[in-house]
Amino acid sequence: MAGPLPVGDPMPGDGALPDDAVIDAHTPFSVYLHVPFCRVRCGYCDFNTYTATELRGARQDAYADTLLHEVRLAARVLGAHAPLRPAQTVFFGGGTPTLLPPGDLGRMLGGVRDAFGIADDAEVTVEANPDTLTDDVAAQLRASGVTRLSIGMQSAVPHVLAALDRTHDPANVTAAVSAARRAGLAVSLDLIYGAPGESLDDWRTSLTAVLALDPDHVSAYALIVEDGTRLARQIRRGEVVAPDDDLQADMYEYADELLASAGYEWYEISNWARTDDQRSRHNLAYWRGADWWGFGPGAHSHVAGTRWWNVKHPAAYAQRLGAGLSPGAGCERPDAEAARLENVLLRSRLREGMRTDELTAAGRRAVASLIADGLVDGAAAVGGRLVLTLRGRLLADTVVHALTAP
Ligand SMILES: C[S@@+](CC[C@H](N)C(=O)[O-])C[C@H]1O[C@@H](n2cnc3c(N)ncnc32)[C@H](O)[C@@H]1O
Ligand code: SF4
Repeated sequence: MAGPLPVGDPMPGDGALPDDAVIDAHTPFSVYLHVPFCRVRCGYCDFNTYTATELRGARQDAYADTLLHEVRLAARVLGAHAPLRPAQTVFFGGGTPTLLPPGDLGRMLGGVRDAFGIADDAEVTVEANPDTLTDDVAAQLRASGVTRLSIGMQSAVPHVLAALDRTHDPANVTAAVSAARRAGLAVSLDLIYGAPGESLDDWRTSLTAVLALDPDHVSAYALIVEDGTRLARQIRRGEVVAPDDDLQADMYEYADELLASAGYEWYEISNWARTDDQRSRHNLAYWRGADWWGFGPGAHSHVAGTRWWNVKHPAAYAQRLGAGLSPGAGCERPDAEAARLENVLLRSRLREGMRTDELTAAGRRAVASLIADGLVDGAAAVGGRLVLTLRGRLLADTVVHALTAP
């Protein structure tokens, strides 16, 4: 969702899929609901999110109702091709979904349930800011069908949080995790490493704090300097030092070692869980190429080999739906070659890996030298699977480049 929207074909006004799109009843269906509001914008973030002064008349209090128009449109569009499939996973992402009252999130979830059904054992996640999670909010979310919270902890060290413009007090993370647990919600903690001024010792402090909180799941992302952000401008002006690749690599290795010693296994380059059941089924659906509909401004969707994306601004989004039109800004149908490249890009990041016979002949030839360089697991390759080593995870872009070279 970051950066400008892709350039694709125009989207039909009614949001229809191509006439010949064939929906496979056995492909799992997932739902993403974007909530594009934040109290303040963090300097490093280029997600499609807006503070109160940037809303240009779009109303946060009307957002749930606006989005429910798109839910009904989706049911019409998909229902024209095949019986509707219940959602196996639902994910409220942002932005800051918990800036909306829990009743609004519950109504959106109810709309998805009415339109598609939600599987009995569905995973339903809400991204939450530690400052916005009380016992009452957690209990209301659980009562409306939410099963899991992804809490944006980022760091346990005050000067690192300050460098990231994060406004929460580290103590609030502990309170948020306790509130989630009391309500019966699973907990994932999100971390960022490599912030300006963050040392390996600071990172150790954050990881130790994470383990003390005993979450079900951990995500840790290297800080990326996105073009157009305040962080990028500060680095360009020399006010802030850019993240150091070698230090970030050391931080990744340290995280993997510490998390593994506490029983958290990596299952995707930036994600760790104790058991298969605790992995993010929603993110696995993206990586495995399932079908999903992304609701909300700037959200992307993928159904039956067609991709599309919505207009970015919440005011434009509300205006399109208010006029009875699809909020889709563009669409594309990747050809077989583009779909194959994407498959390698996504699946090679997973511990389950991908089948080597899905690679081209050139890709399969590259595997031998990637094994020799210590980037790809030789034993897994003998069994016909492409799985990255620890070194390969650190150099994943290089590996994908080699695997997809003509
Ligand atoms: C976009 S946020 C949405 C959830 C919530 N607003 C928050 O910040 O916790 C989801 C996650 O994306 C990650 N993220 C956003 N921008 C990033 C960047 N430039 N580099 C690395 N991680 C980033 C953060 O870890 C964050 O927890
Ligand atoms: S709170 Fe999350 S979505 Fe909002 S600006 Fe910060 S990182 Fe981005």
